[in-house]
Order: sequence, then structure tokens, then C-alpha cells
Amino acid sequence: MRIPFIAGNWKMYKTVHEAVEFVKELRPAVKDITDVEIVLAPAFTAVHALADAARNTKIGVAAQNLHWEREGAFTGEVSPAMVREAGAEYVIVGHSERRRLFGETDAIVNRKALAAIDARLTPIVCIGETLEEREREETFAVLDRQIKDGLDRLTAEQTAELVVAYEPVWAIGTGRTATAAQAGEAHAHIRKRLRQWFGGDAADHCHIIYGGSVKPDNIRDLIAEADVDGALVGGASLEVRSFTEIVTRSRAAV
Ligand code: PGA
Repeated sequence: MRIPFIAGNWKMYKTVHEAVEFVKELRPAVKDITDVEIVLAPAFTAVHALADAARNTKIGVAAQNLHWEREGAFTGEVSPAMVREAGAEYVIVGHSERRRLFGETDAIVNRKALAAIDARLTPIVCIGETLEEREREETFAVLDRQIKDGLDRLTAEQTAELVVAYEPVWAIGTGRTATAAQAGEAHAHIRKRLRQWFGGDAADHCHIIYGGSVKPDNIRDLIAEADVDGALVGGASLEVRSFTEIVTRSRAAV
């Protein structure tokens, strides 16, 4: 049984102070919710303070990125062990903004996912097609490549624990959500491939969450789809009220 997984991706928003204030407000609002996995992904600078503020709660912490090497001369980078030590249990890997703006390829995504697992972090691996790819009817081919190359060399057990985020690039930050049917179709395809390539247990256990303009108004329809197990929320995760609404409305729907 996969319980809904709702993660807030704060991108390059919120100082340490703002992150801690958010958690102080969120804690009472979600204290009785045990049937949703709630995760917040602040900037690196706020990971430690946020993990402290979320201690003894159900709120988990994710980093938004990591480097794949254990240590070395990589100015400006953060290692998997550093992320873990700072208090994160999850890490977002291969977000489309990193692919587009920072040149991350599926091979890099793969190295990062493996390095994260090695450091006992759960990767939230982002995949998804661009608008041009969708219009050329290449969506499934793109997803296949991203899954095959991005998850290369992961074992079935590791894949079972993974979170895959389907985020159509054209729906991120645009206010243009995939319809529930479009999301459901893509998620079903992803789960089919996981089943083919990693086996039934991995496919049944792995969370496949949707991202791209998720709001309190559309979460119910999205999560009602059989293979949509939660959401990766950008803009609407920046305010306690809308984030809490999304968490609440995702309940008992999976
Ligand atoms: P959005 O971002 O909800 O603002 O579209 C989603 C994401 O980038 O993960």
C-alpha cells in the first residue's frame, strides 16, 4: 500500500529564518496526519535548521541536489554524506531546471541517484518531456530513455524504495497542469516500464508522484488516478495554507 507522498520543492526561495517559521506553522496543521508522507525541500543552507525544526514530527526533509563524488576539489558542490549529515533523508535528482539550466544529463542523474542511495538518501528522480517532445508525440520515448538511463544499475530493491516524479516540463511554473488523464496515462506507462525492467515488487512499491502546477484545486483529480501516488509541489508549497490544503486533500485518495 502506497500512502500519498507530498513534497514541497522550494527551489531558490526561503531563507533559514523563513524556512523555520514555515515549519513552526506547518507542524500543528499536520500533526494528526499520519497517512501522508510530507517532505520539504529547502535550499542547502536551510536543510540543517529545517531538519531540527521538524524533529519528532512526520515532516521529512529533502535536499534539492547533490554531487555524486564522496569528496574532492569540487568548489561549490555538496556531497551525499554532507546532505545526509545535515539531516536530509531525501534528495531531488534531475529536476528539469537542473537539466535545462545546468546541463544535467541522464548519465549525471544516474550517478547522483546511485551516490544518494549509497549515502542512505532516497532519491526523488524527476523525469518528463518538453512541450516540443509532447507535440512530436515522443513523450513515452523520452520517459523510456530517462528511466532506462537514469535508473541504470539500480537493483530491484533500490527501485522499490525510490520516488519517481513525473513532471512534464511544459507544466512547471506555467499554471498549465497536465489533465488528470494525461498524468494518469504517463504514470501508468512509467509503472509498466518499472515492472518490465525491475519486476513487480519494485513497480508496486515505488512512488510515482506528479509535478507541474499542482494546487489545492487540482490535487484531488490528479491523485484519484490509480498510478498517481502524490505530488512534487513548487509554487503552491511556499505558503503554509496552500501546502496544507494539498496534503489534506491528498488523503484517503490513494
Ligand atoms: P510548480 O513547480 O508547482 O511551481 O509548477 C513544480 C516543480 O518544479 O517541482
